[in-house]
Amino acid sequence: MKRVLGIIASPRKLGNCEVFIKEIGRNIPQEHELKLLRIHDFNLQECRGCYQCLYGEKCVIRDDIKIILDAMSEADAIILAAPTYFLGPNSSLKNLLDRGLNFYRIQESLYRMPSIGIAMAGIEGKEGYTLLGVNSFLKIIMSDIKMSRVVYSALPGEVLLSESNRALAGEMGKALFGQGSVNHGPACPLCGGDSFRFIDANMALCLLCSSRGSYRMNNGVLAFDIVRGEHNLFLSRDDAVKHGEWLRMMKQRFINQISSLKQVREDNKDGDWIKPPPPIK
Ligand SMILES: Cc1cc2nc3c(=O)[nH]c(=O)nc-3n(C[C@H](O)[C@H](O)[C@H](O)COP(=O)(O)O)c2cc1C
Repeated sequence: MKRVLGIIASPRKLGNCEVFIKEIGRNIPQEHELKLLRIHDFNLQECRGCYQCLYGEKCVIRDDIKIILDAMSEADAIILAAPTYFLGPNSSLKNLLDRGLNFYRIQESLYRMPSIGIAMAGIEGKEGYTLLGVNSFLKIIMSDIKMSRVVYSALPGEVLLSESNRALAGEMGKALFGQGSVNHGPACPLCGGDSFRFIDANMALCLLCSSRGSYRMNNGVLAFDIVRGEHNLFLSRDDAVKHGEWLRMMKQRFINQISSLKQVREDNKDGDWIKPPPPIK
């Protein structure tokens, strides 16, 4: 039996992210069990940027990250839904992704795991970069995105009152262990991303895989000739392994420059800080 993990970034119980994932689950033709995980339910602290997890066995922060990592690595597929908060994915998703150096330890089990991404937004066209955030998460864990879409609905549960949303959930359920469905329209030929920064009159940067290239009109349709750059995070398994090695190599760079770095930090140690009140005992 397949094990599907639904990751809900919304803190809202029985909200649109949750009920939509459940509806997708009901449409998966393969025999499966759907396990659900609401990021907000867990004690998940912010990444401290100490990089210790790259060298030691586990993250130095004592919180619930291991429960989430175990749930991810035990899954056969992942469905991720995040709500839009002020034009981007809410902070739960970024908080979990920020702990992503830990994902390198479970890379083997995540590699090419089928996934579905949902960017939930309350107002049509006001999803901002939520889908980019959802896709970034699914790419960084090296999953195989079978389908990812923006879905509109505002009131809790409202998503399933729409016929077209239910149909989309049906399509997503079938896509998870099936062929998948690419987004139509202009996209990065390397990663399928559809968010770009236009650097100058003929250069664009794909905001998903961070590769750049030229763009042109092809029979009235915008086409991107994005080319593989030097340092890629997830375009191939090799890229992900090399990025992990590159991160570990930074330790040596740090050691080589330690005295000049120390000097810069010493020169900048003063500051007029606003401090939080001391904790109540
Ligand atoms: C703080 C906050 C900010 C929001 N900002 C946006 C927004 O910028 N654009 C938008 O389309 N919807 C926005 N919404 C609406 C939610 O994305 C929408 O209600 C969604 O269905 C919530 O999913 P949930 O029910 O799973 O929590 C916002 C909601 C909240 C609570």
